Amino acid sequence: MFSRYKKSAPAQPVHAALTTDPEPATEAPAPTKENGQPAIVRRPKPTQDTKPPAEPVVMDKEVRRRARLDEIKTEMHSRLLDNLNLSALETAKESDLRAEINAITNDELGEMGVVLNREDRQTLQTELFDEVTGLGPLEPLLKDDNVNDILINGPYNVFVERAGKLEKSDCRFKDERHLLRIIDKIVSAVGRRVDESNPYVDARLKDGSRFNAMVPPVGVDGSLVSIRKFKKDKLGIDELVNFGAFNEEMAAYLQAAVACRLNVIVSGGTGSGKTTTLNALSSFIGNAERILTIEDTAELQLQQEHVGRMESRPPNVEGKGAVTQRDCLRNALRMRPDRIIVGETRGEEVIDMLQAMNTGHDGSMTTIHANSARDACSRLENMIAMAGIEMPIKAVRSQISSAVNLVVQASRLQDGSRRMVSITEITGMEGDVISMQEIFRYERLGLKPDGTIIGRFTACGVRSHYSERFRQWGYDLPASIYEPAGD
Ligand SMILES: Nc1ncnc2c1ncn2[C@@H]1O[C@H](COP(=O)(O)OP(=O)(O)OP(=O)(O)O)[C@@H](O)[C@H]1O
Ligand SMILES: [Mg+2]
Repeated sequence: MFSRYKKSAPAQPVHAALTTDPEPATEAPAPTKENGQPAIVRRPKPTQDTKPPAEPVVMDKEVRRRARLDEIKTEMHSRLLDNLNLSALETAKESDLRAEINAITNDELGEMGVVLNREDRQTLQTELFDEVTGLGPLEPLLKDDNVNDILINGPYNVFVERAGKLEKSDCRFKDERHLLRIIDKIVSAVGRRVDESNPYVDARLKDGSRFNAMVPPVGVDGSLVSIRKFKKDKLGIDELVNFGAFNEEMAAYLQAAVACRLNVIVSGGTGSGKTTTLNALSSFIGNAERILTIEDTAELQLQQEHVGRMESRPPNVEGKGAVTQRDCLRNALRMRPDRIIVGETRGEEVIDMLQAMNTGHDGSMTTIHANSARDACSRLENMIAMAGIEMPIKAVRSQISSAVNLVVQASRLQDGSRRMVSITEITGMEGDVISMQEIFRYERLGLKPDGTIIGRFTACGVRSHYSERFRQWGYDLPASIYEPAGD
């Protein structure tokens, strides 16, 4: 536990998670004629021919069972759509709807002359419910709290990330059309469209998950989808310390750094835990401060009371109406913030971000895609150049070195663990070069037979450049935390 060095946290969590769990589904009895419940979502039944289910392919038992269920499911799905009053779906209670779907399924199975055992019948009913009301095969993955990311490469290849490891999932779609239908369902629910002429979309789903899709012909072997699931309870500092993302000394140092309003950049590769780290660091901000957050997809969940959240917006189909992160940032500067947090700096907003950090909004934070503190600085330089700002390189570097105080490097290691591999202070300029000093780092010592990395965190033996500031602000860290770990 991060306790030994813990100061009474300046930010008292005011609100718990922003969203609450929906009520758990309760199984209700099927609305049969016997129990007298009204069949609210069923349409009057048209007379229709019954089609026999297609012949399943002969394969091994489990595959054969799955294939048969899939065939029946497809048939049942179209029958359900014929039978259900779709306009009532929106308002129907989940328990009523489940009961109704179960009843229709039983009737139709009877009519088709299909006999299923109890387990298969239940699987079929759950899958049909997911298909009609939700996102079909994705539903179980979305409900599984152990799954962080869902990555789809065409209809038959679905990968998930569990405990930092990517693994192939059993989930598959019937075909590309099925996958496209689900994508369409997802994006149309948030007022977006994706088709051949507009083949990619990046959106935030209603539950806060981040969604990106690219459909054929751009996706060569089928649609490519990635979903970063929204975690209601973001990992906090204590959990990160428990998970071994960093140690207590580093947590104590970071608390001092954030509370004493150093400007922090969290750097790292894709999915390395940048946003999670940024979110955790924000818990050290005092509750009295006015914080504005700017993101492409709102993911941060700040615990403070005084938080204004902004989300940039892509252009519409006619190419109009875009609101960039830079637009948000410029506006934010007029909104009297104490601190500004930009989810990820990746473009022209860099110049406004650095200016904000330099001009009275110290304690601002952002993340950046880079592999080391030095690399993060070069990425900033490149972004400034790409934004069309013509400044001598020395001036650019001096701007960066005076704006940024600290670079926290996050990394996803080969065993799937996410760690803070380095904490580096930017101390100024030496000639044309930005000078920096590493305070803590992760030392890799070896590899266990099961592929787990053996390593440890250690201080680098350098006292913080900001020690005096920490002391003045009441965060007098003991000199021992800067001592390297012994052998
Ligand atoms: N230390 C950790 N231990 C376990 N899981 C973690 C840790 N840090 C982050 N995660 C999980 O890893 C996933 C990716 O984290 P996060 O969104 O913070 O990464 P990111 O670097 O911001 O990704 P991106 O580059 O896509 O924005 C999340 O589901 C998060 O919950
Ligand atoms: Mg992120």
